[in-house]
Amino acid sequence: MKISNVTIAGAGTLGSQIAWQTAFNGFNVTVFDAFEKSLETSKRYHQQYAELFLKSRGASQDEIDQTMARLRYTTDLAEAVKDADIVSESIPENLEIKQSFYQDLDKVAPEKTIFTTNSSTIIPSEIVSAVDRPEKFLALHFANGIWDANIAEVMGHAGTDAAVFDQVVEFARAIGMVPVPIHKEHNGYVLNSLLVPLLSAAGTLYTKGVADVESIDKTWMISTASKMGPFGIMDIIGMQTIYDIEMLLGKKFNDQAMLARAEFFKSNFIDKGKLGVKSGEGFYKYPNPAYSDPTFLKPYISKTTKT
Ligand SMILES: NC(=O)c1ccc[n+]([C@@H]2O[C@H](COP(=O)([O-])OP(=O)(O)OC[C@H]3O[C@@H](n4cnc5c(N)ncnc54)[C@H](O)[C@@H]3O)[C@@H](O)[C@H]2O)c1
Repeated sequence: MKISNVTIAGAGTLGSQIAWQTAFNGFNVTVFDAFEKSLETSKRYHQQYAELFLKSRGASQDEIDQTMARLRYTTDLAEAVKDADIVSESIPENLEIKQSFYQDLDKVAPEKTIFTTNSSTIIPSEIVSAVDRPEKFLALHFANGIWDANIAEVMGHAGTDAAVFDQVVEFARAIGMVPVPIHKEHNGYVLNSLLVPLLSAAGTLYTKGVADVESIDKTWMISTASKMGPFGIMDIIGMQTIYDIEMLLGKKFNDQAMLARAEFFKSNFIDKGKLGVKSGEGFYKYPNPAYSDPTFLKPYISKTTKT
C-alpha cells in the first residue's frame, strides 16, 4: 500500500509539528483533535511554521501555499480517518487516555490504516490490546522541533508485521526524518533513554537546591558544546509533558524522587501557568530566553580587567 493520506491525532506541540512536516513533504494531512480550541491553536502554529520555513528554511511561497492546501482540521474522528493510510497519534502521555482513544479509533478507521503512537514512554505492547489490528500497530516517535531534530524512532511490539514496520521506516524517510529502527521494545527508545536521566538529574539538582537553573544549564552547555541545557530543553518539551512523564515513570517504577519532582513542577510551574515556551514562560522567559543571549556563556569580566 502506498501511503498518501495521513491523519495526525492530537494537535498539540508535537502533533502540529508532525502535521506540518508531513504536509510540507507532499502528503495529504488531516489534523484531528478532541478540542476545537486545540485545532485553532494548531492553525496558529502552522502560520508560524509557514513564516519560519519562508524566512529561515528556504521554502518558496508556492511550497508554503501547497503545504497549507494539504492540511485539513476536524474534531470528528470518523471523518478524520475515513481515507487514512496511517495515523500518527500525539495525544497526552497517559495510558488510559491513549487506550480509550485507540478503542474509538479502531472502530472507525478502515482496515488498511496503520496506527502509530508518538508516545515517549509508553511501549506499544501496553496499548495494543485496545485495537483489533495488532500487526498494524507500532510506535513512530519524533523529537521536538522535528525539522531540526529530525530523528524518528520506529519501535514495534512482538506482533507488529515486519512489512508494516519497514513501511513506517520508509514513511519516516519520506517526511525528511532519519529513521532509527529499534530492535526490541524498550521504555524511552534510544533518545529518551539518554534524555530522561539527564533531565531528571537536572531536576533533582534544582529541587534539592544544589544549583540554580542557569548554572546547571551553563555547565551542560559549556562542557558539551550544546545549544541549550536541560532546563531549556524542558521548556521546549513543555512542562505538562514533563510532568506526565515523571508521573508515569514514577508510578511505574515506584520512583519516589520522580513523583516528588512531578509535584514540584506542578505546584511551582503548571499551576502558575508557566508551561514552557508555549505559554511564554517556564524556567526561562520567551521569546528571548536568557540562554540564547550571547553573553550567557561568557566568563564574568571584571570592570577593572584591562582589555
Ligand atoms: N512535547 C515533546 O517534546 C514530545 C516529544 C516526543 C513525543 N511526545 C509525545 O507526544 C504526545 C503529545 O505530547 P505533546 O507535548 O504534543 O502534548 P500537548 O499537550 O501539546 O498536545 C496534546 C493534544 O492532544 C489533545 N487531546 C487531548 N485528549 C485527546 C483525545 N482524547 N483525543 C484527541 N486529542 C486529544 C489536546 O487537545 C492537545 O491538543 C505524548 O505522547 C508525548 O509523550 C512529546
